[in-house]
Amino acid sequence: MSETWRVGVLFSQTGVTAAVERTQYNATLLAIEEINASGGVAGKLIEPIAYDPQSVPKNYRKFAETLCDNDRVSVIMGCYMSSTRKAALPLIEARGALLFYPTLYEGFEYSRHCIFTGAAPNQNSVPLVNYVSRNYGNRIFLIGSNYVYPYESNRIISDLFLQAGGEIIDEIYVPLNIGKGGFSKVIDKIKETQPDAIYSTVVGDGISLFYQAFRDAGLDPLTMPITSQSTTEAEIAQMPAGTATGHITAAPYFASLQTDRNREFVAAYRKRFGADSPLTHCAEAAYFQVYLYAQGLERAGNDHLSDLLPHLHDSEYDAPQGRVKIDGTNNHAHLWPRVGKVNEHGQFDIVYDPGIRVPPDPYMLEYRLDQVMPDVVRSR
Ligand code: ACM
Repeated sequence: MSETWRVGVLFSQTGVTAAVERTQYNATLLAIEEINASGGVAGKLIEPIAYDPQSVPKNYRKFAETLCDNDRVSVIMGCYMSSTRKAALPLIEARGALLFYPTLYEGFEYSRHCIFTGAAPNQNSVPLVNYVSRNYGNRIFLIGSNYVYPYESNRIISDLFLQAGGEIIDEIYVPLNIGKGGFSKVIDKIKETQPDAIYSTVVGDGISLFYQAFRDAGLDPLTMPITSQSTTEAEIAQMPAGTATGHITAAPYFASLQTDRNREFVAAYRKRFGADSPLTHCAEAAYFQVYLYAQGLERAGNDHLSDLLPHLHDSEYDAPQGRVKIDGTNNHAHLWPRVGKVNEHGQFDIVYDPGIRVPPDPYMLEYRLDQVMPDVVRSR
């Protein structure tokens, strides 16, 4: 019997998505440190065992194998890009282990071996389409990084905008490792077609380059915002000040959320990692999922999947975004949809917050386009 609860941690410190994954890594450590400071779980401390997969999908698989086979962990916290989850999860399934995945994603997935704590499309794409179509219009230009999340998210967003009476003007994919100047043709197309809004599924370092190119071209977020689910405080911090002002993100959490619980979380995070260190919805999910794991572990008394899982199902926790819950039927989280607009400080003003916790509907079976939009805030 091990002296500690060993937990694998797979977030990239280097590579194209390191900016946001560092926030997930930090938040995971913070939660573990807090739990350990209050005595650990069932008398034992949690011991993180971390590797840097360098934002490369096959490395997530390789390190998941190392964690399961050499380090003998049963639980792994990690993955950002869906391509990295899809690389690691079959290995984790084969070993009978459990992945906690704290990132928004395209939905349409279930695994007994994965707890999804980021938003599914009914919790971010649906409110985003409602907000954008009512405040800006329905003629949408799609731009994404060249991998599975953008393809699938664009498919869902297209369906939703079409249902709202809209039109998809164009759909363009760019390389993950896009360089400076890489967006010039996209910007030309946007200028030529004049959509009402952009929907961006660009991830990683390309986000900063895209928003800078948009601004340098004189395009105006007041009348044509870039809207997204993957642009967070972490990528905004990579941009020159003011670059993202006026653009829109849909997510269950923003660091600017004014609640006592969130102020406490932000203060603890900044004390530990620095006053300027960005905090994101991906970090918040990484944080609360450690607490859900610890609660389940306390009740189960061990971390084997078949013992732990029943104690995770329908478990709840007072997260910084509000009280969250793991759905016992689909392993996804009940979350609090919001829409934020970037202000001049690189933080989000929350422009839509219905105060409703929305159950996960990863296969989009039950959602309604107006489900969580009883009173859209109209503000520019
Ligand atoms: C993502 O690839 N799930 C952002």
